[in-house]
Amino acid sequence: MPIARAEVQAIFTLAHLSDLHATPVAPGSLRPLLGKRLLGWLSWRLRRGATHRTEVLDALLEDLAVTSPDQLVITGDLTNVSLEEEFLVARDWLRRIGSPERVTAVPGNHDTYVRVPRACSWDLWSEYLESDAAGRALLGESQGGAYRGLAFPSVRIREPVALIGVSSAVPTPPFLASGRVGGQQLARLERVLSALAPTGLQRVVLIHHPPDPGATSPRRGLCDARALCDVLQRAGAEIVLHGHLHRTRIARIEGPHGSIPVVCARSASDIGTKPHKRAQYHVLAFEARDAGAGTARFRVTLRARSWDPQTQRFVESDRPETLLAGPA
Ligand SMILES: [Fe+2]
Repeated sequence: MPIARAEVQAIFTLAHLSDLHATPVAPGSLRPLLGKRLLGWLSWRLRRGATHRTEVLDALLEDLAVTSPDQLVITGDLTNVSLEEEFLVARDWLRRIGSPERVTAVPGNHDTYVRVPRACSWDLWSEYLESDAAGRALLGESQGGAYRGLAFPSVRIREPVALIGVSSAVPTPPFLASGRVGGQQLARLERVLSALAPTGLQRVVLIHHPPDPGATSPRRGLCDARALCDVLQRAGAEIVLHGHLHRTRIARIEGPHGSIPVVCARSASDIGTKPHKRAQYHVLAFEARDAGAGTARFRVTLRARSWDPQTQRFVESDRPETLLAGPA
């Protein structure tokens, strides 16, 4: 059933945060650092620890209290090397950002830096990762079931949007930061996107890695990007939001009825030694427009808010990054 125009807000705002990396790499003993994590610890000691700063995230939280988006999404990489201690610290950040009813996350490659039992990693964030009851019903899963850790894509209905969380996070060998969605998840994704198509909900796909082939090097990219694009081209989506690149990027991929915008947000915690990587988050405003026959369509405007080292606060960027025009 299409959404009746009277049932939707005139403006619905969605904040997009990514790549927080705001967890110290400080295990209780040296043992967890053996293997690939040693490289990550070195990277954190030499670079990441000085780049991704909690004072920037504190300022971001203050700014979010002012901009007060209706919903927030986080496209992965809350941790650095997937230590259990990091998952606990990241859970505290999630709770500070907002309640699970208002905040939806997907994991990134740093959140599965090495293979870690779910019970001491993603399960600690399950309230922020899992589908809601409406989403589980759409996926054909029993309502009220316990989080099973493998239930991606997640689906959350937050009218007028449907948030579809895709996990591209898989453990990789040293020096690789690639991702994979996998055939099973792709099949479920196509089913749920197709089921949502006639509802009038704005299908917002969340994924850590860029979905389009060639967006980054094979060493850092999504192995099955082509297959994901094929699903999106057949089933459609209104917007894809991702992270991983730590820079602003707006691309388009083919959908069944025109192109689908693909938006990357920078890291939300970068102190900004490189100005083009300075911390930023996006606010997407969905504006309902009369599409006739009592139904609503949406125009989506994207604004960026950036860390300002002078004032130590987040401020609106001088000019909007772009305008995403929805169906006329
Ligand atoms: Fe990443």
